[in-house]
Amino acid sequence: MRTTCSVSLSSFWFWPDALLCLGVRDLGRMVIAETRRRVLSGQPPGACWALEWDVVNRSAKDVEAREDVPVHPATVNDGAGSALVHRAVQRAVRAYGAGTPCRVLDVGGGSGVWAVPLATLGCQVTVVDPSPDALASLARRAREAGASDRVTAVQGDVDCLGEVVAGGAADVVLAHGVLEVVDEVPRAVEALVSALTPGGVLSVLVAGRAAAVLHRALAGRLADAMHVLTDPDGRIGPGDPLLRRFDVDGLSTLLSGAGLDVELIQGDTVVADLLPSSVRASASGAALADLEAVASSVAPLREIASRLHAMARLPATS
Ligand SMILES: C[S@@+](CC[C@H](N)C(=O)[O-])C[C@H]1O[C@@H](n2cnc3c(N)ncnc32)[C@H](O)[C@@H]1O
Repeated sequence: MRTTCSVSLSSFWFWPDALLCLGVRDLGRMVIAETRRRVLSGQPPGACWALEWDVVNRSAKDVEAREDVPVHPATVNDGAGSALVHRAVQRAVRAYGAGTPCRVLDVGGGSGVWAVPLATLGCQVTVVDPSPDALASLARRAREAGASDRVTAVQGDVDCLGEVVAGGAADVVLAHGVLEVVDEVPRAVEALVSALTPGGVLSVLVAGRAAAVLHRALAGRLADAMHVLTDPDGRIGPGDPLLRRFDVDGLSTLLSGAGLDVELIQGDTVVADLLPSSVRASASGAALADLEAVASSVAPLREIASRLHAMARLPATS
């Protein structure tokens, strides 16, 4: 049976208010307990959440599946960080199995926040970044993790990617926090795709426009919120360090337009960044992680995540 509940604009704007008024433990208890109870008993979750039943059903099953994936201890946190992104990326690299080290290319990989945990899992990771300071931090981080032999640092940028790494040779390419700052997005995505081996996966993490609007509005910066909402690129103004912000549709269109099959778009940090610090400090890490896990893939909550994460595959036959 498929029960569809409408998602209205008013419900979109209701959510942040609800999150703030109720506090995460109350909201987490209500959403998780009620959704799980109903999903496990085969009932639709009900109209009060303004969610689509089959989306909730998929999400609850997905959470169970995600919990089966062992995650590197360095990337487990209280649910407020990017645990779901680490989990999705680590699931992709584990698919390559033992004995065949997954070849990871981390473009704009900076100091190795993503690269080093993957290297400690056995991946052979190349980090390309224009910043010598970031690459020095990467080397230090890799050394401290005992993973120096599996991390290669290359100074360069996405525009010259084809000159500094072999094309078609990476099983997994990461572009996290990069598409917001490159000069030309389609050209950058084309370069990232060129680095992938057929059947390989591109992981993209970008700043979300809706979250930027909400965060500024909730901080009383209404003019900034209006700029982010109405600017074609989602910028606050010329002084904004980001050249653009993304929404789910734009990200999906960008990746499929580059010839990739989009396998996942999830929100990274839907709730935690909206919580007042007093609520955040007293919230249960487990409840927050549970809430983030469900909210990350359920509209309209996914759309208001601080960052949007996509995993997209280059077809094996291309
Ligand atoms: C926000 S940091 C993200 C670092 C890392 N990927 C992460 O998620 O923690 C952006 C990184 O992109 C790098 N960067 C800036 N412009 C770039 C470009 N055109 N090509 C590749 N990397 C770039 C910066 O040096 C910086 O390390």
